[in-house]
Amino acid sequence: MEYLFSGMIILLLACFSCFTYSEALTSNNGNITIVWDLMNWTPDGYEAIVTTYNYQKQRSIPSPGWKISWRWARQEVIWSIVGAKTTEQGDCSKYIGNIPQSCVRKPTVIDMLPETPYNHSNCCRGSPWKPGLASSFILIVGSAGTSNSTARMAVNFMFTAPKQQYICGPTKNVVPTKFTTSDSRRTTNAMMTWSITCVFHKAT
Ligand SMILES: *[C@@H]1O[C@H](CO)[C@@H](O)[C@H](O)[C@H]1NC(C)=O
Ligand SMILES: *[C@@H]1O[C@H](CO)[C@@H](O)[C@H](O)[C@H]1NC(C)=O
Ligand SMILES: *[C@@H]1O[C@H](CO)[C@@H](O)[C@H](O)[C@H]1NC(C)=O
Repeated sequence: MEYLFSGMIILLLACFSCFTYSEALTSNNGNITIVWDLMNWTPDGYEAIVTTYNYQKQRSIPSPGWKISWRWARQEVIWSIVGAKTTEQGDCSKYIGNIPQSCVRKPTVIDMLPETPYNHSNCCRGSPWKPGLASSFILIVGSAGTSNSTARMAVNFMFTAPKQQYICGPTKNVVPTKFTTSDSRRTTNAMMTWSITCVFHKAT
């Protein structure tokens, strides 16, 4: 009787892990898409709006929110960021006077809580961030190209959330995003748009 019971427990555990495994393999659970819109050129780089869409059917991003990291193509720095925070400043010693927020080659940025005073749309989801919603932050990138033939895509994106592991695909150059003003009377285009798609891999 006891053997039978522990046998059932093992079977149950095995089935539970086989369920999460096969769930991870099916792509019809949706995805997380990161859209990197280059909005304006600056004297040494550009301003970007980075918007992440939770296109997953069921999965919310739990507290305290997402974490996104990438690797710069060259020696880019983050002069400033609104609506998210960098976790590390790194070695900015070659800058005097005006010091960037972050000089690391592989920066990590984290979401801010909804209570943060904000002035751009989709800022600061914190948690729980529900499916179907977007979360965005604004980056001023320096030491980057200042035209769309010299700016380089950031690569090796990683998207993580508490107890959730995702796998991200390559950065792709896509059709520039169209923006419509709030009175819908004028549309503008991003100068260039890069896109990264990530899928849920496993619970951690
Ligand atoms: C991600 O999900 C969106 C919304 O369902 C879909 O339009 C898009 O094609 C998906 N991207 C990929 C690479 O599967
Ligand atoms: C947004 O808020 C920041 C900090 O309060 C301020 O410096 C910036 O000018 C504001 N931007 C807009 C577009 O209102
Ligand atoms: C290149 O940048 C210009 C503005 O600097 C923009 O109007 C144009 O659409 C961009 N071209 C491409 C192919 O993205």
